[in-house]
Amino acid sequence: MNDLIIQNIAELILPKKTDLPLKGQELAELNIVKNGTVVINEGKIVYAGPHTDDYEAHEVIDATGKTVSPSLVDAHTHLVHGGSREHEMSLKRQGVSYLEILEQGGGILSTVKATREASEDELFKKAEHELLRMIHHGVLSVESKSGYGLDLENELKQLRVSKALEEKYGIQMKHTYLGPHAVPKDTDSETFLEQCIQDLDAVKDIADFADIFCETGVFTIEQSRKYMIAAKELGLPVKIHADEIDPLGGLELAIEQQAISADHLVAASEAGKKALADSDTVCVLLPGTTFYLNKNEYADARGMLDNNGAIAIATDYNPGSCVTNNLQLVMSIAALKLKLTPKEIWNAVTVNAAKAIDVDAGTLEIGDAANLVVWHAPNHEYIPYHYGVNHAEKVIHNGKVIVNHDLALN
Ligand code: NIG
Ligand code: FE
Repeated sequence: MNDLIIQNIAELILPKKTDLPLKGQELAELNIVKNGTVVINEGKIVYAGPHTDDYEAHEVIDATGKTVSPSLVDAHTHLVHGGSREHEMSLKRQGVSYLEILEQGGGILSTVKATREASEDELFKKAEHELLRMIHHGVLSVESKSGYGLDLENELKQLRVSKALEEKYGIQMKHTYLGPHAVPKDTDSETFLEQCIQDLDAVKDIADFADIFCETGVFTIEQSRKYMIAAKELGLPVKIHADEIDPLGGLELAIEQQAISADHLVAASEAGKKALADSDTVCVLLPGTTFYLNKNEYADARGMLDNNGAIAIATDYNPGSCVTNNLQLVMSIAALKLKLTPKEIWNAVTVNAAKAIDVDAGTLEIGDAANLVVWHAPNHEYIPYHYGVNHAEKVIHNGKVIVNHDLALN
């Protein structure tokens, strides 16, 4: 006798388990089973495929007219931070740019102030609320960056909060040290970068990755290279915020340094995109950020795929450049602005996102952890189509229904 059967699934989305990220045309390959069945026992998948009546279980969920997929992976978030920056919206309206706000001591630096002032407990409560919102939206694997402490004590404070959330909820999390996220006002970028490199030793046991913001006025390519080499020497795999605003060659650097991911890439060069053919670095695209920064040019996702690159989609949830942790909304923006097909998008928020943060997630094969979502949607295309709302009806974590949305009123 099994624990749970999900029966009569209109569309069952089954991304393929692979050792390497899906690249180029592979991203469009997605197995979708009509009239599917999923069987779960002891928190694991026993069966996922075409309809069968061969199994029995204590509980049956009728998913007539619904879609089922693996739970989603949000591969780039700045989940733990203090404060908020709603006043920056009026600055934006007046035409002040993101980098100008940062130069004036606002932007990231104002969140640094709020994060330093917040106690560990306050940070935990705020991040917990937003993590729960993600889970309610069908996400059960989350990457979470530091980067708003800008000194060892406060970076470690953020990382501890992130780790404590993982421990409390038992969902998959990866914790990224992003010490070089901005240059504090009282120092210069060279001195600060040296400090971050020294601090790597103290964060290497709590962090899974080291990340850096390589951008005009923040850290250069040479500084980023030095930092990445130092992190790898200590055994920390690297990520990079690359070519978000200006084309500095961040994608090329990520490929050269075999980064696990290169993120943003709105301004990535043609040479960088060409080099993707021989690389397994995942391009983590964040179209919600381009939207929120009010830019017209989005990352060239199609060009990356044409060059046989691997791409994933994530929210970039943070208090400045992308204030949403609804990955479903970002899937809609990816469909409209990155011109990705629904099948490509599903792979980009499941298996490929999992590769970008090195978690075993995004598939429903026999023996996999039963982490899945029952969507109130008739097919996989419907979720990016009906945008800005939450379609997750049930979220199942290790075989247990932990979210059950019912729109009935009290
Ligand atoms: O990924 N680009 C740098 N860091 C974040 C933004 C952080 C902020 O504005 O607070 C990003 O977009
Ligand atoms: Fe980011």
